[in-house]
Amino acid sequence: MKSKFYLSLAVLLTLNAPVKAQELDALIERGQELFNSDTGCHVCHALSGEGLVGPSLLFGPTPVDIFDQLESNPVMGVIVNEMDPSDEDLAAISMYIRTLAEMELEADLPQRWLSDLEIVKSNQSEQLVFAMTERDLQVEAIETYASVRETWTRRSNEGSLLSHYRAGVLQTFDPGEAKFEPQPGKTYFYENVGTASTPAVLFEGYTLPESNQIVVGDAETHEVIASYLIPKSLRATVHTTMTSPDGRYVFIIGARADGVDDMAVANGLARLEASATLIKVDAVTLQPVEQIDIGGRLHHGQIFRDYLLLDMFGRGPDGLALMLFDPQTNEIVGGVKDIDLGGYVYTVWSDRDYEYIYALMEPAGYAPGRATGMAGAYAMYQGRLMAMRPYWVAKINADTWEVEKEYPVPGYRPNWLIVDAAKEHFYVINTLSNASKINIETGEVVWTNGTGIGPYGGSLNADETELWVANKGEAAGFSGRTITIMDTESGYPEQTLYGAYKADHVLLSPNGKEMWATSNAEGRIYVYDVESKELMTKIDMPGNGDAHGLAWVYYDENGEPRTVRDQGNFHNGVNPMTGNALNAP
Ligand code: HEC
Repeated sequence: MKSKFYLSLAVLLTLNAPVKAQELDALIERGQELFNSDTGCHVCHALSGEGLVGPSLLFGPTPVDIFDQLESNPVMGVIVNEMDPSDEDLAAISMYIRTLAEMELEADLPQRWLSDLEIVKSNQSEQLVFAMTERDLQVEAIETYASVRETWTRRSNEGSLLSHYRAGVLQTFDPGEAKFEPQPGKTYFYENVGTASTPAVLFEGYTLPESNQIVVGDAETHEVIASYLIPKSLRATVHTTMTSPDGRYVFIIGARADGVDDMAVANGLARLEASATLIKVDAVTLQPVEQIDIGGRLHHGQIFRDYLLLDMFGRGPDGLALMLFDPQTNEIVGGVKDIDLGGYVYTVWSDRDYEYIYALMEPAGYAPGRATGMAGAYAMYQGRLMAMRPYWVAKINADTWEVEKEYPVPGYRPNWLIVDAAKEHFYVINTLSNASKINIETGEVVWTNGTGIGPYGGSLNADETELWVANKGEAAGFSGRTITIMDTESGYPEQTLYGAYKADHVLLSPNGKEMWATSNAEGRIYVYDVESKELMTKIDMPGNGDAHGLAWVYYDENGEPRTVRDQGNFHNGVNPMTGNALNAP
């Protein structure tokens, strides 16, 4: 509210006459009042104008100078919100600052300032008017993330989405001899390595391994202890390493049920579309014990309650998109189909208490079937697509199989999701090079920020102050070599670490002190010290097979094993994010 006196001053100024001495005093007084008000300029520029957080103003800024700041300087947003100065207010403030700086107070300054300000403002409005095509208008109508949220309509069906698929054991095998002797009190890591790494980037004349190998190593010394090359008849394009909750079995992808050699089938996406099998491996002999038809081609997997939560690359004709598989009985206890979710499932995740399943969802149609998301991401990087329909996260209640909430993602092609220990936020990492922090309750996006190029997996450090992101180069067409560390509070990408080619997963170890990054290209695992960010070691996989997924199994004092960490979560009571790290060094 402006004073009566001040209104008359404003009238006077617009009359374009030089101010008289007594009016000048009133103007200066008004300027002083504003400058020194509770949320006024003095807060940041000092009562003397010599500067505090903000710089010195003793050069005598004009109203145009101040206006420019108010337009462009977010720190001064408080002035816009609280004071909302009129042109006359700015003239008064400028004049008062001149008294602080002991500058001349010419009587004609106020109108000169006001007409300058008028010119600046009208130039600015002219600049904003451009011709728009019909297409421009269409884009403008949908280009903001806010518009995606405002217009969001539920994609999934209502009610229980539970579907079933009857899994079946196709073959059983003799488990063979123990390949190592697990010791009480020790932790072992498991890695399934494949035949498709590209160490040509490292060694000339390199030949690929003939089949997948199950590798076991000492989590403390980082040494590989034993490995087993599975029969060629069972090999498949490597994806994922899982262990059962009791740590007695390792699960990997296996050959197609029809026995056609996986590698002999057409290359690329077509190969990933073909249905395949699940291989159950004895965790001590490292040899397959069963080959199981699960109605699709395994992509990722992790422990969920007493089960394994799986998401699929290819789905068979009656196959599920995501499922819970019982590692004891080899049964699929339930799952969901894409059609019921209103899009294609890419990967699935969970919170530490296995309350919800978070499915990362892709809009259909950028390529046939579930190849849609990857094809869309490629097309965006290559500029054939300029925008895509939104991708989203479906939060599924694992007891009722209902989708309780959908979260449109402010980015393209989400790959990976991490729920914080408090289950308040999740972090989602997108192929199109950004990551977001989203409030689970409200769906509000806390921040979104750029990562390195083509990021894939990520992990929080133990106190959840950092989000480590593996910049694989996914869909960007080259081999990424970096890890980005983002501040979880602000989203600011604070550090870039040098790393392995095409590291796609990065996981906090169960002792909470190391980050393990699996390189698809080099056939190695890079281990970083979380505190110092130093690269501690590179673990070579046998034959440089491509590493994919990781699980840690701990043997207690009685020699009983249990899985404590896999690509999804920490398990069986161990979780450095809740202060319960495994007591290994
Ligand atoms: C909350 C803190 C804050 C308040 C309040 C604030 N400023 Fe500032 N101001 C800043 C900061 C910080 C900068 C420097 C911005 C930069 O470096 O980009 C700045 C810059 C300026 C500049 C540019 C200085 C130059 O060297 O070009 C002017 C002019 C200015 N402020 C005037 C004002 C006036 C007048 C007010 C009161 C109406 C005010 N500011 C209130 C923080 C503040």
